Amino acid sequence: MRIIRQSNYDGMSQKTASIIAAQLITKPDSVLGLATGSSPIGTYEYLVKWHKAGCLDFAQTKSVNLDEYKGLAPDHDQSYSFFMRKNLFNHVNIKNENIHIPDGNAPNEDSECLRYDRVIEAVGGIDLLLLGIGHNGHIGFNEPSCVFMRDTHCVALSDSTIEANARLFPREEDVPRFAYTMGMRPIMQAKKIVIIAWGEGKAEIIQKAFRGHITPKVPASILQLHPHVTLVGDTAALEKIDW
Ligand code: F6R
Repeated sequence: MRIIRQSNYDGMSQKTASIIAAQLITKPDSVLGLATGSSPIGTYEYLVKWHKAGCLDFAQTKSVNLDEYKGLAPDHDQSYSFFMRKNLFNHVNIKNENIHIPDGNAPNEDSECLRYDRVIEAVGGIDLLLLGIGHNGHIGFNEPSCVFMRDTHCVALSDSTIEANARLFPREEDVPRFAYTMGMRPIMQAKKIVIIAWGEGKAEIIQKAFRGHITPKVPASILQLHPHVTLVGDTAALEKIDW
């Protein structure tokens, strides 16, 4: 694993955006796996800025997002679909038909999971996957569990995830309790992975995930088995990891 330490959030964002830009410049038809949350917002800002400056073209790019809340329609302002449009897709020239996100409003859970796995397969898997990490070590919404889940599944969010995400909802009871998430198979089959973390709140889990045991109780620990992972973090998040 490669570790890139930057002094602050902006440095982390710029470095991460540069890695994604290099991917798109060298392979314009790349499939990007994308995350939401506070960690990638700055990265998306740089990508938008460079696109607007004429340096980055998304015309052939495809995207598959990691996850979506179950029960939220794409136009709900807390849905991940809304987040992606607001922070990235509305500002670059990615084609609508090339954007893929689990459908939080799908009438049938099992069919939606199968559909999303087929979508990931149909685009040929992920070239570059951008991940954040939860305080409990989740990636996507692969929550701590007794097994690594292989395929797209609908997950009951852990109390700590609900608590962490409550900051974005008017009340904690408004946070959806379930979400669809990509499974570990397409994550581990991604050709390259960039995982980003910022702030002292992530320092302990970063140490555990990358220097502790590989266990589904710390889902991100599976990344220790991936041959091409780059961890980009600010000083605070990387404070506890030896390197
Ligand atoms: C969201 C996702 C999650 C987040 C994680 C960290 O699409 O995949 O795993 O990356 O919860 O969230 P932030 O960046 O808000 O700390």
